[in-house]
Parts: sequence; C-alpha cells; structure tokens
Amino acid sequence: MKRTVLDYALKIRLPLTLFVVAVSVILTFYFSRAERDSVGYNPEQPIKFSHKLHAGQMAIDCQYCHIGVAKDRHAILPSVNICMNCHTVSRKDRPEIIKLTQFYTTGKPIPWKRIHKVPEYAYFNHSVHINKGIDCASCHGDVKQMDLVSQVKPFTMTACLDCHRNSQAQLPYLKTVRNGPENCWACHR
Ligand code: HEC
Ligand code: HEC
Ligand code: HEC
Ligand code: HEC
Ligand code: HEC
Repeated sequence: MKRTVLDYALKIRLPLTLFVVAVSVILTFYFSRAERDSVGYNPEQPIKFSHKLHAGQMAIDCQYCHIGVAKDRHAILPSVNICMNCHTVSRKDRPEIIKLTQFYTTGKPIPWKRIHKVPEYAYFNHSVHINKGIDCASCHGDVKQMDLVSQVKPFTMTACLDCHRNSQAQLPYLKTVRNGPENCWACHR
C-alpha cells in the first residue's frame, strides 16, 4: 500500500508539479517582457558625467547638448567640443576632466554606452514628438535628478501604442493633442 502511494507521488505527482512550475515560469517570463525591456538599465559611463549637476543644478538646457532633438530623428549626444566650451577652464585639474581633455586633444569620440534603443525595424522620430510639446520626462523620466542616466519606461510596441491610442490622457499637461498613429507602416517603414 505505502509503496503504491510513493509510486504515485514520484511517477504522476512529481512530473505534474514540475510541468506546472515550468509552464508558469515560461508564462511569467513572456508576459513580464515589458518590465524587462531595458527598464532600469544604467551602465557605468566612460566619464562620470552627471545630468543632476549639469541639467539640474546648473540648469543647462537639454538642447544645448542634445542638438538634434527638435529637428531630427535622433537627439544626438554632444561632441567633446561642447563640453570643452566650459572645461578648458572649469575643474580642469580633476581626474575626470583630465580624462575628458585627453579625448579632446586626441580627437577620439567618447565611447558613451547607449541606453535607450528601439530595434532597426521600428521607426521613432524625436522631432515630431518634441514639436507637439511632449516633454522629455514623459518618456525618459526626470533626467534632471539623475547622476547616472537610467531607462525608466519600456519602449516596446505596447508602450508606444498605449500613448498613441490615448494621447490626451497620457499627456494631461498639453491643452490639445491628437492621437499618434496606430497603422503598422507609420512605425515599420
Ligand atoms: C552638458 C551636456 C548635457 C545636457 C545639458 C544634457 N545632457 Fe543628456 N546626455 C549628455 C551626455 C554626455 C550623455 C551620454 C552619457 C550619459 O548617458 O550620461 C547624455 C545622455 C542622455 C540620455 C541617454 C541617452 C541614451 O544613451 O539613451 C538621455 C535620455 C538624456 N541625456 C536626456 C537629457 C535631458 C532630458 C536633458 C535635459 C533635462 C539632458 N539630457 C541634458 C549630455 C547632456
Ligand atoms: C556650461 C558649462 C559646462 C558644460 C557645457 C559642461 N560642464 Fe561639466 N561642469 C561644469 C561646472 C561648472 C562643473 C563643476 C560644478 C561643481 O562642482 O559645482 C562641472 C563638473 C563636471 C564634472 C565633475 C568634475 C569633478 O569635480 O570631478 C564632470 C565629470 C563634467 N563636468 C563633465 C562634463 C562633460 C562630459 C561635459 C560635456 C558632455 C560637460 N561637463 C559639459 C560646467 C560645464
Ligand atoms: C515620445 C517619447 C520620447 C520623448 C518625448 C523624448 N524621447 Fe528621447 N528617446 C526616445 C526613444 C524611443 C529613444 C530611442 C530612439 C532610437 O533608438 O532610435 C530615445 C533616445 C534618446 C537619446 C539617445 C540618442 C538618440 O538620439 O537616439 C537621447 C540623448 C534622448 N532620447 C534625449 C531626449 C531629450 C533631451 C528629450 C527631450 C527634449 C527626449 N529625448 C524626448 C523617446 C523619447
Ligand atoms: C507619451 C506619448 C507618446 C509616446 C510614448 C510615443 N508617442 Fe509617438 N506620437 C505621439 C503623439 C502625440 C504623436 C503626434 C500626433 C499628431 O499630432 O499627429 C506621435 C506621432 C508619432 C509618429 C508619426 C510621426 C510622423 O512622421 O507623422 C510616429 C512614427 C511615432 N509617433 C512613433 C512612436 C514610437 C515608435 C514610439 C515608441 C518607441 C512612440 N511614438 C511613443 C505620442 C507618443
Ligand atoms: C507606434 C509605433 C508602432 C506601431 C503603430 C506598430 N508598431 Fe510594431 N513595433 C514597434 C516597436 C517600437 C517595436 C519594437 C518593440 C520591442 O523592442 O520590443 C515593434 C515590434 C513589432 C514586431 C516584433 C515583435 C515584437 O512584438 O517585438 C512585430 C511583428 C510588429 N511590431 C508588428 C506590427 C504590426 C503588424 C503593426 C500594425 C498592426 C505594428 N507593429 C504597429 C512600434 C510600432
């Protein structure tokens, strides 16, 4: 009698339990894709540049450095020259600024690590969003408070469409805004 109970447990219950566990792991993995999509990604950068200091405390305008954001597809990262507008004089004896100056004098671009990225097969354009009055924080969070930039929102298709389907509700600070496109070829051209 005991033996058959154990047999049952090993031959039927155990595989069944394992199967249920495996399925739920796979399902959770699949459905939590949005949260895993780079949210929280904040790699160490080659130079300890702080947005909190420059864009927050010193209140330097985002577009002073991200010159493409209102007229191009890409926001563009600043060249070393823009940093050197100030750092030929400012804090030039500091180790991080000495590193910065070496990039400048050797003419090598700083290998900043890319944080936000949509795949090649999807089309995103900053200028169309910025020119409708959408602020950076709606998509990037409060960068002015970040010493190290971190992705705070997912950029999955669902995330794009969540705002496109209901833009006014997602952007309450705008007086009027039309919904964004939902047709496939708007974003897959
Ligand atoms: C003094 C120049 C400067 C200013 C001003 C500035 N940034 Fe940046 N930004 C940088 C540099 C350099 C990087 C790349 C290093 C890093 O990620 O910190 C960067 C990176 C970023 C990134 C991440 C890019 C990626 O790889 O995905 C975002 C988002 C961003 N900035 C938003 C902003 C916003 C929003 C503002 C205004 C509130 C702003 N920046 C102001 C220089 C600047
Ligand atoms: C408008 C002037 C200005 C620009 C442009 C600017 N900075 Fe600065 N930066 C400053 C000032 C001023 C400080 C010192 C602030 C303080 O310590 O209170 C500073 C501090 C720093 C520090 C910290 C230095 C330390 O004390 O260890 C780093 C690193 C830095 N900047 C990197 C950059 C980089 C990289 C860029 C270009 C993407 C840049 N800065 C562009 C004015 C500027
Ligand atoms: C509607 C959402 C949205 C808004 C608003 C937005 N961004 Fe972005 N940002 C993105 C997406 C999506 C990417 C990734 C783009 C890609 O991979 O082509 C990105 C990438 C970036 C990058 C990385 C380099 C690049 O050019 O792709 C920087 C820097 C940046 N944004 C800065 C800003 C700044 C500064 C503002 C405000 C002036 C801003 N963004 C407003 C969604 C947004
Ligand atoms: C916070 C809201 C918001 C988010 C997030 C957002 N969009 Fe938009 N998008 C808009 C609005 C608003 C419009 C413009 C509607 C109008 O006035 O025509 C727009 C317009 C567009 C257009 C049409 C541009 C054109 O050429 O006319 C494309 C393409 C687009 N978005 C792609 C994306 C992609 C890809 C993402 C995700 C990575 C995204 N958007 C995320 C609000 C958003
Ligand atoms: C507002 C912009 C936008 C629209 C409209 C849109 N897509 Fe996407 N799509 C994206 C983005 C951004 C990604 C990349 C998502 C990621 O990295 O997870 C994507 C990814 C995909 C993928 C890859 C699989 C996946 O889910 O990651 C497929 C397939 C796809 N889209 C098909 C479609 C079809 C079919 C339509 C029309 C019904 C459509 N898309 C409309 C932005 C859009």
